[in-house]
Amino acid sequence: MPDTDKPRWMMHGITSEPVETYLYSLLPPRDEVLSEMEAAAAKRNIPIVGPAVARILHQLALISGAKTVFEMGSAIGYSTIWWARAVGDNGRVFYTDGDRKNADEARGYFDRAGVANRITVHVGDALELLSEQKQEFDIIFCDLDKEDYPRAFRLALPRLRKGGLLVADNVLWSGKVTEKNPAEASTKAIVEFNRLLYGSPELFTTILPIRDGVALAVKK
Ligand SMILES: C[S@@+](CC[C@H](N)C(=O)[O-])C[C@H]1O[C@@H](n2cnc3c(N)ncnc32)[C@H](O)[C@@H]1O
Repeated sequence: MPDTDKPRWMMHGITSEPVETYLYSLLPPRDEVLSEMEAAAAKRNIPIVGPAVARILHQLALISGAKTVFEMGSAIGYSTIWWARAVGDNGRVFYTDGDRKNADEARGYFDRAGVANRITVHVGDALELLSEQKQEFDIIFCDLDKEDYPRAFRLALPRLRKGGLLVADNVLWSGKVTEKNPAEASTKAIVEFNRLLYGSPELFTTILPIRDGVALAVKK
């Protein structure tokens, strides 16, 4: 868009690399368990949300007073612990992952983090597990294989309470969402997911351009 056609509220170039580095430098250190998980994830290439996004998740649960969180795609349980610490003693977080080894490892971290009693561990297809749920959730968090995002959207909406939050990671997909004709199925799926979020009359959505983009949609 030529500069002269740009609305005055638009700003560009704010989240440049030095600004991101500054934002990351503000992050307080994590405790021993989370630090160990971050190191394990880095060493073994496990795609966790990391502390900058994890703090948003935690904060969203605190602000909204969420007591039930359904997480689709939990890996070794890093984001699960941030949710679990926010929902309090009477809260419940549903961990889901397709890989049993991830779940076994996650259980060890949940014990050590002191939140095992707030987390229900499910191994299997997160989409099926969600569709089996009878209850409505305060928050549904989507961090699955990206090709599954549009299906996750359709399943999540009826499982979310009025006023509940649908949150999703990686919705800017390293900037690939701006490609004119994306070739990758993952990129196409995220573009479709974002379109569904913003187009839904049942939701009010914003994307926070932190790290790889976090979508935040509240059910009206
Ligand atoms: C990006 S990682 C999750 C990271 C986690 N949310 C965190 O930040 O700590 C995605 C995980 O989702 C799992 N996964 C992908 N598609 C899935 C599906 N349909 N059902 C269950 N798990 C799935 C993968 O096994 C992987 O461990």
